[in-house]
Amino acid sequence: MKRIAILLVSVFSLGMIFSSCGGGSQPAADQKTAEGAIPADIQAMMPKGEQIYKTKCVVCHQTTGMGVENVFPPLANSDYLLSDKVRAVAQTLNGSKLEMTVNGKKYTQEMTPQVDTKEDAVAVINYVLNNFGNKGGYVTLDEAKSIEIKPRTAAAPAK
Ligand code: HEC
Repeated sequence: MKRIAILLVSVFSLGMIFSSCGGGSQPAADQKTAEGAIPADIQAMMPKGEQIYKTKCVVCHQTTGMGVENVFPPLANSDYLLSDKVRAVAQTLNGSKLEMTVNGKKYTQEMTPQVDTKEDAVAVINYVLNNFGNKGGYVTLDEAKSIEIKPRTAAAPAK
């Protein structure tokens, strides 16, 4: 909790520095500068990512990205997600069956594989990284290159 407070304070002060430099006339552009601009090829995959989110993820992670406490972890402001974007792509592709702690709460339920291609996984994670209040930057297909797509089984079917 303390760490989140410190993070919030530093994000806030960074925002102050940027808006004072830019005269505060273009807050949206200033925020992008703080995180590094999102390249056009990543921007171009956002609509696809949004569509995937709204058809596949929303049922568990909710329209707000807040999930359901202790059952489905949040994707909004998730310390776990934001600390490793390539892992998030891998989990979306291959599912996840770990005990994990997200924002201080434990999650033990299984997520089955959600998408079949790296393109879809990267698109939806980029959508997540830039929605629900997240300013999480982005992940590229190149960074996802080393992920192995595991064979689907009857117990963990794709979709
Ligand atoms: C049937 C419910 C369900 C659906 C649908 C689902 N998830 Fe999950 N998700 C979970 C559960 C449960 C976990 C925790 C898994 C664990 O403990 O290993 C999780 C964990 C995650 C995590 C890592 C934890 C975090 O909060 O950062 C990410 C990233 C994620 N899901 C993304 C997605 C995306 C993207 C989709 C849609 C393409 C999706 N999930 C669809 C249930 C679901």
